[in-house]
Amino acid sequence: MIFVDACFGKKTPYTPVWMMRQAGRYLPEYMKVRDEAGDFLSLCKDPQKACEVTIQPVDILGVDAAILFSDILVVPLEMGMKLEFLKDEGPVFSKPILNYKDLDMLSVEESAKKLEYVYEAIRLIRAKLSKDKALIGFCGAPWTLATYMIEGKGTKTYAKVKKVLYSEPDFLHALLRKVTDALKLYMQNQIESGVNAIQIFDSWASALEESAFFEFSWSYMKELCDYLKARYPHIPIIMFPKGVSGFLDKIDGNFDVFGVDWSTPIELAKEKLGDKYVLQGNMEPTRLYSKEAIDIGVDKIVKVMKNRRHIFNLGHGILPDISVENAKYFVRLVQERTSI
Ligand code: CP3
Repeated sequence: MIFVDACFGKKTPYTPVWMMRQAGRYLPEYMKVRDEAGDFLSLCKDPQKACEVTIQPVDILGVDAAILFSDILVVPLEMGMKLEFLKDEGPVFSKPILNYKDLDMLSVEESAKKLEYVYEAIRLIRAKLSKDKALIGFCGAPWTLATYMIEGKGTKTYAKVKKVLYSEPDFLHALLRKVTDALKLYMQNQIESGVNAIQIFDSWASALEESAFFEFSWSYMKELCDYLKARYPHIPIIMFPKGVSGFLDKIDGNFDVFGVDWSTPIELAKEKLGDKYVLQGNMEPTRLYSKEAIDIGVDKIVKVMKNRRHIFNLGHGILPDISVENAKYFVRLVQERTSI
């Protein structure tokens, strides 16, 4: 698999490419299956349909890897929280985790078992997906999940979770410990079910100052890597902490690929981390609105990364109103421009 080879820094005939959120609303084929399922969560819980939408972007766009169709929030859901996806608000947990009593209600072993629909989807996808295409499994970073669990929904200020961080750090650590333990089992089960690589999404890393990032987020992400690498050294791990361009000097750990978000100049990531890790990224996702903007965006990254250890991707997820034609154009352009 060219994708897995690239994750381990081996030479490949071209730079493999995929897009975060590649299975999603910009594809009419996705909307059809989601509407059949009823809603987003029902789609996540239906292995047949999750399999179908996972493979759609591989067939339609020709990307080099599929990413499991699911969501990072199914873990807190199956740990025992009530989750809804509301039309204008996005994900909402109606009863956030506020104290040790709430924390005690959350299950670890039980949640890993309840996520069986994810493992079944993985088995179906791996049986159906072409042998040369990788399947990427994923989870949210403990910090990003804990943020949702305490805030109850997306936030601009992170006021609730940061109040906890600075006034009750032991409580936050207890929550992070529990989530990390659940993620170890969940990732282990995803790997045993057949994923070829995993990505850990730390979307809210950008909310933290340096010392807090390393104490409350990165340490738990690293612990998860150590746990998985001790058992599955052949499965590449991609870390995607968003918004940490100021701390690249201090990034280290037992993983293979560093996902560069679009706000970090790729030259900077190359200088600081390019010798230690394969880099993934990082075209600004809204460049997909225009072919000219795609040409310029791809050209720049190719110039910096050509023949270097690199996986092409956007610097965050594709937006729902991007045209399929432009998404296809991007994928083909990367594959052509990087061919040896
Ligand atoms: O294609 C893929 O990348 C795989 C599937 C995937 C989804 N979510 C599907 C999804 C992945 C990897 C995620 C990760 C995820 N989910 C993250 C981390 C990545 C990031 O974007 O920073 C986060 C923070 C979430 C939480 C989440 N899920 C939010 C905030 C939302 C609402 C925002 C939105 O785009 O509507 C979701 C819903 C969601 N997850 C959708 C999809 C395709 C849209 C649901 C729909 O069909 O309406």
